[in-house]
Amino acid sequence: MNTMFSKSTYVNRRKVLKEKLGKGLILFLGNDESPMNYTDNTYHFRQDSTFLYYFGIQHPGLIAIIDIDNDKEIIFGDDFTIDDIVFMGPKPKIFERAEQCGVKTAMKTADLEKVIGDAVAQKQHIHFLPLYRPENKIKLQDLIGIRPAEVKMKYSVDLVKAVVSQREVKTDEEIRQLTQAVDISVDMHVAAMKFAKPGMTEVQVAAEIHRIALAAGGNISFPIIATINGQTLHNHYHGNTIKEGDLFLIDAGFENEMMYAGDLSSTIPIAKKFTVEQKEIYQLTLDAHRAAVYSLGVGIPFRNAHLAACKTIFDGLKTMGFTKGNTNDAIEVGAHALFFPCGTGHMMGLDVHDMEDLGEVWVGYDGQPKSMQFGLKSLRLAKRLQTGHVFTIEPGIYFIPELMDLWRSQNKFNDFIIWEKVNEYRDFGGIRNEEDYLMTESGAKLLGKQKPMTIEEIEAIRLEFG
Ligand code: GLY
Repeated sequence: MNTMFSKSTYVNRRKVLKEKLGKGLILFLGNDESPMNYTDNTYHFRQDSTFLYYFGIQHPGLIAIIDIDNDKEIIFGDDFTIDDIVFMGPKPKIFERAEQCGVKTAMKTADLEKVIGDAVAQKQHIHFLPLYRPENKIKLQDLIGIRPAEVKMKYSVDLVKAVVSQREVKTDEEIRQLTQAVDISVDMHVAAMKFAKPGMTEVQVAAEIHRIALAAGGNISFPIIATINGQTLHNHYHGNTIKEGDLFLIDAGFENEMMYAGDLSSTIPIAKKFTVEQKEIYQLTLDAHRAAVYSLGVGIPFRNAHLAACKTIFDGLKTMGFTKGNTNDAIEVGAHALFFPCGTGHMMGLDVHDMEDLGEVWVGYDGQPKSMQFGLKSLRLAKRLQTGHVFTIEPGIYFIPELMDLWRSQNKFNDFIIWEKVNEYRDFGGIRNEEDYLMTESGAKLLGKQKPMTIEEIEAIRLEFG
């Protein structure tokens, strides 16, 4: 199983980072094992993605520094004891792991305190990222006295900007990894499209999706969504029984052995065919999808793709009698968000929402403020696209009874929404399709193989297997 790129990839990535940042000492806190209910019973280990990007080592309990001022790179960690080996088997020594990513020096974890103490004494600037794991925040406090609550004020914005500017542009070897992750994600979706039947529970379909991911040598890139309640955007409940006539929404992706993610969504009828009503709304989500893709371009803000999807949805729903009034005005005030209360896409890479731990304002907005408006505030990516950006396209239409009832009771958007018609669809559910794209000089390119998505393709699968 190949879990690392060649040594030169990591050496070059660190060289670029050093040049971007110029001075100081960078502290990278890798992830530890995370206990579920007692120390030795742990969740699936997942290395921190920035640590992976610069060092590639999928092993818990490591810390690395890049001392730009003194031109030193060190990985800190502890070799397995004989007890560890007896229980978990032999593992490479820390110096061997360091060697694999081109770091010349390895030291014990206990040596870190002195190294950082010396750097502080020399008044070096210590750069660290906005940490998200409590144990790493505690380690930071032990090392340099910054309390967990202070991390969000004191992390290095310069480091975040440098890392984002590097990680967001995917290289050819990364694109090959992402393509493979998306290909397996397609297999997971096709398996679910064939497998789901009336009378099953949602968890049976989720298990089938997960089986494909594990059998392909990786895992899932985020908790599986496999639900008859597609109107709930992130529904991880799998306890419902699937009925004939339901719409079934699948949102699932593969994380490959190099930790690159795929992220796709599909919606299928639990029947041989969509109903007329389902077909109309489904086709409109495809139209919105296409409008978003047509709006993509190098140097063009991703926000344009989102707005193109919003307008297509609002206009289409107007034709069907759900909405009324001027479309641009409706989008301006956020009336479309009754049906599409989220964003059209997000960056994807080593994280399914790539670098979300580093802050959406840098990853998706180049430091510009986000809208606070319901709907638009959930758009994770708005900035101008560059070649090498990889992102999702995932507009959807959702009928959320609680949101309808609230806005109707508040007389909200009466100029734009035909409430009687909307109310007829209160039990409709939700529809989303999602694909992953790479921005290239010649336009946006679909990543990985094409998943079945048209009405004809979905119905053909359901006719044969449903
Ligand atoms: N597809 C899952 C997510 O974007 O969070």
